[in-house]
Amino acid sequence: MEKRQQLYAGKAKSVYHTDDPQRMILHFRDDTSAFDGERMESLARKGMVNNKFNAFIMRKLEAAGIPTHFDGLFSDTECVVKKLEMIPVECVVRNIAAGSLVRRLGVEEGIELNPPTFELFLKNDAQHDPMINESLAESFGWATPEQLAEMKALTFKVNDVLKALFADGGLLLVDYKLEFGLFHGQIVLGDEFSPDGCRLWDANTRDKMDKDRFRQGLGGVIEAYEEVGRRIGVDFG
Ligand code: TMP
Ligand code: ASP
Repeated sequence: MEKRQQLYAGKAKSVYHTDDPQRMILHFRDDTSAFDGERMESLARKGMVNNKFNAFIMRKLEAAGIPTHFDGLFSDTECVVKKLEMIPVECVVRNIAAGSLVRRLGVEEGIELNPPTFELFLKNDAQHDPMINESLAESFGWATPEQLAEMKALTFKVNDVLKALFADGGLLLVDYKLEFGLFHGQIVLGDEFSPDGCRLWDANTRDKMDKDRFRQGLGGVIEAYEEVGRRIGVDFG
């Protein structure tokens, strides 16, 4: 596989063409953003940590029968993925109330959500990723009802797999965001799964071990990501 010119640079990852038109290379940079890019900082080791964390999770999800774009590692900070046609809708499942749910509804952070909730957001930084629903996604052509149903089913399947995986490491999977795309017409998990796009709390102390450490200026961001990785068995080399 040969890396070719850059196609796109996002807030924390860059995407490159390869010699295979069906494959891309994702480069996880050290850049860290919050509040839809309003706050940006470079955190040493983050690209490597998130690349290896993501690879570990994607392999676990594939093993559980969830189709993902992940093909393999390309370097410490890069991986090879299938080229998807991305759906601009973010799927969020919450097991415990935190973040925007707490702000929006005025509920207490930390309450258990039973059953877990499912929300859709439009991927649009300029509009601050507004909450949407199935009807809006269909009317605006962002996704069909069939695609949304498949995305919802897969997002909950991910919850079953990852809640158990993190629980074994003494961690609570509070919530997470997934993005999907189409590969030859099939809905496939894309983007990444890392502590940048989920909330993870220590099961005993409820210490935050995810990007909320950055959002809330708690410090020790990458140290927390590495600790989470070590607890679930990620090999950072
Ligand atoms: P929220 O509480 O801000 O709505 O986020 C819920 C979860 O989804 C949280 O783990 C962060 C993640 N998320 C992102 O990583 N990026 C996004 O653009 C959104 C909307 C959520
Ligand atoms: N993912 C968004 C950003 O990086 C929102 C956030 O994490 O606060 O800006």
